Amino acid sequence: MVKIETLTKSFGAHTVFENVTLEFPRGRMSVIMGPSGCGKSTFLRCINFLEMFDSGRIAIGDLSVGWNHGEADRLPLDKKSALQKMRLKTGMVFQSFNLFPHLTALENVTLAPIQVKQMPAREAVDLGRTILSRVGLVDKADAYPSRLSGGQQQRVAIARSLAMQPEVMLYDEPTSALDPRLVDEVFNVMRELDNEGMTQLLVTHHVRFARDVSDRVLIFESGRAEWHPSSAIGETGFPSSGCPGISLQA
Ligand SMILES: Nc1ncnc2c1ncn2[C@@H]1O[C@H](COP(=O)(O)OP(=O)(O)OP(=O)(O)O)[C@@H](O)[C@H]1O
Ligand SMILES: [Mg+2]
Repeated sequence: MVKIETLTKSFGAHTVFENVTLEFPRGRMSVIMGPSGCGKSTFLRCINFLEMFDSGRIAIGDLSVGWNHGEADRLPLDKKSALQKMRLKTGMVFQSFNLFPHLTALENVTLAPIQVKQMPAREAVDLGRTILSRVGLVDKADAYPSRLSGGQQQRVAIARSLAMQPEVMLYDEPTSALDPRLVDEVFNVMRELDNEGMTQLLVTHHVRFARDVSDRVLIFESGRAEWHPSSAIGETGFPSSGCPGISLQA
């Protein structure tokens, strides 16, 4: 469903990962873990083209786009438009919820469908209410973010991404900024989506949740990405300091 082929990304002389080739199955939650600084966020950002990779190819469903080394800066028009279409296939949720503070929960959710998809306002409101009820927040539709808990704000952020009807949801440590008591309400939404057959890629340090939702975990380490049985991940996960094996290349 999401197919990554020989994906390589560097920042200047620093190679973050090289020749990553793998597939994430449709309708499943895939968990990505690894030490800090090993490229998990960069990898997700490449998948929704927030970050341009150096070379490789990404396929989502029946659409794919890729390029060779040196081509990213001068993509032909057809590739640029394919890239725009690919962007719409993914929804991304970040650690910081980034809701618009001057818009209600419902307005945060309906904004992109109205502005990007030109959806009529009435239709967008219906859709927004349906999606807010999926994340258990229809009663907060008219609340401003400042009146919502962190867990509620993150659920609105998930609803906002879902409103664009993506094929794949990407989460970069969606519970890291939350009070531990609020983590489960966000994970429960993701569990529901999993039951409904949404394809989800999740970067997290929560070993318990990772084991719970998947029998394997993709580990980023030293510029490579490999699947491991989730039962093999230690309780403490990964060290939070540094990424062994990654060094600046001449
Ligand atoms: N915009 C950037 N410019 C230069 N270097 C960057 C940039 N973004 C990330 N990096 C570097 O790329 C490497 C991977 O960073 P990334 O944020 O993807 O790691 P991560 O695995 O998500 O770490 P964490 O678990 O701390 O979130 C790091 O060495 C980081 O310093
Ligand atoms: Mg990160």
